[in-house]
Amino acid sequence: MPEILVGVSGASGMPLALCVLRELAAMPDVRVHCIISQGARAVLQAECGAGPELLAAYADHLYEPDDLAAGPASGSWWHGKRPAAMLILPCSMGTLGALASGATRNLVQRAGDVVLKEGLRLVLVTRESPLSAVHLRNMLALREAGAVIMPFSPGFYLRPQSLEDILLQTSGRIFDQLGLEHNQKRWAENNK
Ligand SMILES: Cc1cc2nc3c(=O)[nH]c(=O)nc-3n(C[C@H](O)[C@H](O)[C@H](O)COP(=O)(O)O)c2cc1C
Repeated sequence: MPEILVGVSGASGMPLALCVLRELAAMPDVRVHCIISQGARAVLQAECGAGPELLAAYADHLYEPDDLAAGPASGSWWHGKRPAAMLILPCSMGTLGALASGATRNLVQRAGDVVLKEGLRLVLVTRESPLSAVHLRNMLALREAGAVIMPFSPGFYLRPQSLEDILLQTSGRIFDQLGLEHNQKRWAENNK
């Protein structure tokens, strides 16, 4: 059974995090672990008017962001969970920078660092605009280290009719990167 750790950091994009967690929870064969950073809590309040319980409701296991003794902080925990992958959604520039430098300070960052060093899948759904040279260098460093850099970037060729469509279609692209089956629309010749 695939085990997915979703790290939620303090960038804009909480409705997408909610949609992805909801869709993951509906997948019968996937176990979902979740960490919500302290920074994410302020953004959740601003964007959804809710606390971490809104997201936590969809996780099988929830970890405190300052609990650096929790399982995901250890490489051996990850090897016991394979196939396993980590998604950071949204990924703030702060968390991106911590991962790029290796100077990690909370469990979202430490778990991402461990996933990279163990050669497992790490997908970062980044959210910032415009990007500085520092952000771009950090993204390149992480791509070179094996992470998938996936800015929240809707495909309008799928002709979304609503925000929900955009969130679901983006969720499908994220599931592709995590190697999970899904039923979201893909590009097809007959979309023309
Ligand atoms: C409402 C709100 C929106 C934010 N949006 C972003 C964002 O889109 N991208 C980003 O990199 N930081 C954003 N920030 C700043 C981060 O939350 C801040 O740098 C935080 O320290 C990140 O911590 P974390 O990465 O540990 O969660 C936002 C902050 C707030 C309060």
